Amino acid sequence: MQRLFIHIAELGGLHTGHAPLRGKELAHWPHLRNAWLLTNHDRIAAFGAMADLTPALQQQADEVVDVAGGLLLPGFIDAHTHLVHAGSREHEFLMKLQGATYASIAAAGGGILSTAKAVQTASEDELCTLAYKRLQQAIGQGTVGFEIKSGYGLTVADELKMLRVIQRLQQMVSVPIKASLLGAHAIPPNYNTRRKEWVQIVVQELLPAAAEAGLADYVDVFCEEGFFSIDDMLAIMAAGKKHGLAARVHVNQLTDSGAVEAAIAAGACTVDHLEQMTDKTIQQLALADTIGVLLPTAAWFLRLPFPPVRQLISAGAAIALASDFNPGSSPSSNMHWVLALACVQMKMTPAEAWNAASFNAACSLGWQHELGSIAIGKKASFIVSRPMPSLEYWPYAFGSNHIAQVYVNGQLA
Ligand code: NIG
Ligand code: FE
Repeated sequence: MQRLFIHIAELGGLHTGHAPLRGKELAHWPHLRNAWLLTNHDRIAAFGAMADLTPALQQQADEVVDVAGGLLLPGFIDAHTHLVHAGSREHEFLMKLQGATYASIAAAGGGILSTAKAVQTASEDELCTLAYKRLQQAIGQGTVGFEIKSGYGLTVADELKMLRVIQRLQQMVSVPIKASLLGAHAIPPNYNTRRKEWVQIVVQELLPAAAEAGLADYVDVFCEEGFFSIDDMLAIMAAGKKHGLAARVHVNQLTDSGAVEAAIAAGACTVDHLEQMTDKTIQQLALADTIGVLLPTAAWFLRLPFPPVRQLISAGAAIALASDFNPGSSPSSNMHWVLALACVQMKMTPAEAWNAASFNAACSLGWQHELGSIAIGKKASFIVSRPMPSLEYWPYAFGSNHIAQVYVNGQLA
């Protein structure tokens, strides 16, 4: 099956490399104006300028899609989500509007613990149904690859249940999904005064069980005051390494505790959040292979300072953007809002933001050979927009649905 897309106002994100874009490279936006693109089954087969489109090529295609002045862009890769969860927390939203903080709600047994209760009560089937609907919605909004975390189970059995749900989702949808084991997300209430014991259980029971069953690709830890310490994080990262699982960790969201440096030194694949960064920490990240995953909707929703993205980019750090989709700090998987905030609040250019949310995010999950850019041989997983003048128009005209179509592996999603 060959499909030919014609009259593409801008065919963008034509990266052919395989390393994350850093510094000035992040603003690089290889593109063609007034272009065509041909897919063959699930892959991108060819592209070029409309002026060079031959009648033979038009005849050869099984279907011609007239994009009529829309853009064709790489789909988003959402490299940090808590998409499997039950319930919602709009009552806490209200409390926060009336002055409560994220930390005070958590300390009073709300927050992650309240979602954990809902997840523990829900069956595997129920969790699966809820998560499948959320996945479909996110795909419709242009996300074509996902990282999904456990972390609301908080018992060995319920964490494994969450990971099995992620495994089932992998069979149910045609977009790729990688799973992160976030056993150390919050201290289970019955371990309140015995945090170290729970960390031991994660290291000795949960992690080996998940790894042996092939249920996890990464380990994650919420390293934060009132949650897990740097030592806990390092113990879990070391155990993950033994089982061949790299780490993506929640660090420096609420405080700068030295967690970023420790995670980098221990070889973390990604360090996520980074709202609290010093110049020294920024320099260290810039020198590392570790990718910084920034979550602007979570910072915005919790009214935290935004990560110092301009400094991170000028220092040469590799950064990606993701949704952090979860019921507490970012109850939305909408990557368009992530992009709008990245531009307006963090002063990223639209090209930098799109590269960070597609190409660099794909690199962070090891998918850079298959996804993340428009390149011959890569998966035909992309977004076709409504007619618009340029990439810049997208985050500029925020809040509108700019998507005309989403293709996943060459098929209309
Ligand atoms: O990434 N910070 C920790 N975890 C999530 C929030 C989870 C929740 O509040 O349910 C985050 O922001
Ligand atoms: Fe998160």
